[in-house]
Amino acid sequence: MKRILTLMAVALLSLSACAQKAPKTIQLLEPSYDEGMTLMQALKARKSSSGFTDKEIPLQDLSNILWAAVGVNRPDGKRTSPTGSNRQEIEVYAFFKTGAYYYNFKNHTLELVKEGDFRSLTGRGEAAGAALDLLFFADTDKTKGENPDGGGAATVSYVDVGYVSQNVYLACANAGIGSRARGGWDQQKLVETLGIKPSLVVVLGQTVGYCAE
Ligand SMILES: Cc1cc2nc3c(=O)[nH]c(=O)nc-3n(C[C@H](O)[C@H](O)[C@H](O)COP(=O)(O)O)c2cc1C
Repeated sequence: MKRILTLMAVALLSLSACAQKAPKTIQLLEPSYDEGMTLMQALKARKSSSGFTDKEIPLQDLSNILWAAVGVNRPDGKRTSPTGSNRQEIEVYAFFKTGAYYYNFKNHTLELVKEGDFRSLTGRGEAAGAALDLLFFADTDKTKGENPDGGGAATVSYVDVGYVSQNVYLACANAGIGSRARGGWDQQKLVETLGIKPSLVVVLGQTVGYCAE
């Protein structure tokens, strides 16, 4: 049954990609806890990849990667990655060819923020052109008192995003999918284009995709 649902979801995603139409909500699949490598094997395989292609990422792998980033892993609402004082200030946005999405960790869904290809706003360099770019934003409203005077994210958010990024690296290694942490985003343009609240400050980007290498 789970396999049929997965195939249907992949077919829907592919159809929408063909029509260049971005679905409003993508219901992600329950993480597949029992598939893939051991943790030690994933650590051995972890690396920053290059030579990305735009081959689409299967829904199950996408679901696993986003859950690994900041998903809920306990009944009390706590998450796969820790945050200082449990502020839970890190928000994940996912950029595909068809649109920019917010990862709703409570519902384990991707919510469309804006239709269109905004991947060029997420970073520069050799990781460009992959199927998926993730951006990790810190909500500076949740770190008041810790924020630097001149604006930007609090130091604790850089630490918190480090955990998120490593979780993504490991989930990608587990799935045989490439990944690379990435700088070079355009904060101002992102806020304007996506219409997100200015308290959201990008801390790091991470490209995810299959590689030609
Ligand atoms: C905070 C951070 C920022 C990074 N920014 C970029 C970047 O802008 N462009 C890039 O190609 N790689 C970037 N990387 C990837 C590093 O170059 C890579 O981690 C490093 O070369 C070590 O390789 P490894 O991850 O395979 O061990 C970044 C990595 C980190 C941790």
